[in-house]
Amino acid sequence: MITPHGGKLISLIIPVDKKEKMISEFSDLDTISVSHETAQEIDNISKGVFSPLQGFLSRNDFEQVLEKGRLADDTPWTIPIVFDIDKTELNGRGAGDDIGILLNGTPIAVMNIEDLYSFDKGALATAVYGTRDANHPAVEKINGMKDSLIGGNLTFLNEIGNPYPEYTKTPAETRELFQKKGWKTIVAFQTRNPPHLGHEYVQKTALSIVDGLFINPLIGKKKSGDFCDEVILESYKALMENYYPKESATMSVLHTEMRYGGPKEAIHHAIMRKNFGCTHFIVGRDHAGVGDYYGPFDAHAIFDEYPDLGITPIKFRSFFYCKKCASIANDKVCPHGGNDIVNFAGKKIREILSKGQPPPLDMMRQEVADTILGFKNPFKD
Ligand code: ADX
Repeated sequence: MITPHGGKLISLIIPVDKKEKMISEFSDLDTISVSHETAQEIDNISKGVFSPLQGFLSRNDFEQVLEKGRLADDTPWTIPIVFDIDKTELNGRGAGDDIGILLNGTPIAVMNIEDLYSFDKGALATAVYGTRDANHPAVEKINGMKDSLIGGNLTFLNEIGNPYPEYTKTPAETRELFQKKGWKTIVAFQTRNPPHLGHEYVQKTALSIVDGLFINPLIGKKKSGDFCDEVILESYKALMENYYPKESATMSVLHTEMRYGGPKEAIHHAIMRKNFGCTHFIVGRDHAGVGDYYGPFDAHAIFDEYPDLGITPIKFRSFFYCKKCASIANDKVCPHGGNDIVNFAGKKIREILSKGQPPPLDMMRQEVADTILGFKNPFKD
């Protein structure tokens, strides 16, 4: 089984007696209430999805991630996982103190503060997302962040609630599952969309050279106009039920925020899948892109800067339907062009679906289109 990122799978879940003691002492702590998104990051840190992180980034790690795309100890890390606060929320607490973390009034974790630091929002946006344009969804979010960050390790206390328990697995659980299935090489597929035929062929081409396929749709905060979580999950169920061999493909969801960070997010996506136990990671056209902020293959090139990543990218150029070949193809295997080519443009597919119509069968499986059209509004407001 592949070694987790940074060498060890992190689990911040503590034995029941220790947990009960911490909960009984929780009322003595100053507390901070967090959003669902921050709580989700705490959950991911606690269960090893973000291994080797054991908490939110301290200043030293934060600065190195911005400057070098690595943690202070040189481990590859491209997306800063940070906790923003107003200094006043800390009630005079600082380095060395414990604070309690609440979600909707329920204790979910205790954080030991390592440091409290200010940061430059413009520098963060430029270093990670390559732009300060507030129209970029991640930059818009950065602009709305509070002015200080706190770093420090966490202790996990309580679950935060999950609408899809049946389709959620921790890295420890997926590793166990892959072992049980006897898969030694596993390719992971990140997605934020219901599957079109391009997605399917990228996955099946990769699966042809490894033991197993791990479909891992990202469920969580996304921009408006993207598909709703349930639509993505249900449409994948329909696709897998009808077109995937049960012995070689499995799916569980990844609960985290979509950041639309193109190349840097592609590295982050690969790291999380390495922690889930995957040996390979699919990077296609405009991975994690939005608008025209990134070139269609920038997310391929960045992997060359990380020869020590520990998970192998499988890079695909654009898949399309070719009328002359009468099959799904890509520019490496098909000599045609112009009007013979039908591209799988997300925008076009969304436009057709929003008129209540199924996309043509050379773009999307009937079962997938029917599933999506079964929802009154398949898109996020
Ligand atoms: S993403 O934001 O999660 O990257 P999406 O769900 O559309 O968006 O893509 C999932 C994966 O499939 C990414 O690796 C993306 O690059 C790849 N991909 C999507 N469409 C195509 C296509 N037509 N050809 C090749 N790869 C594609």
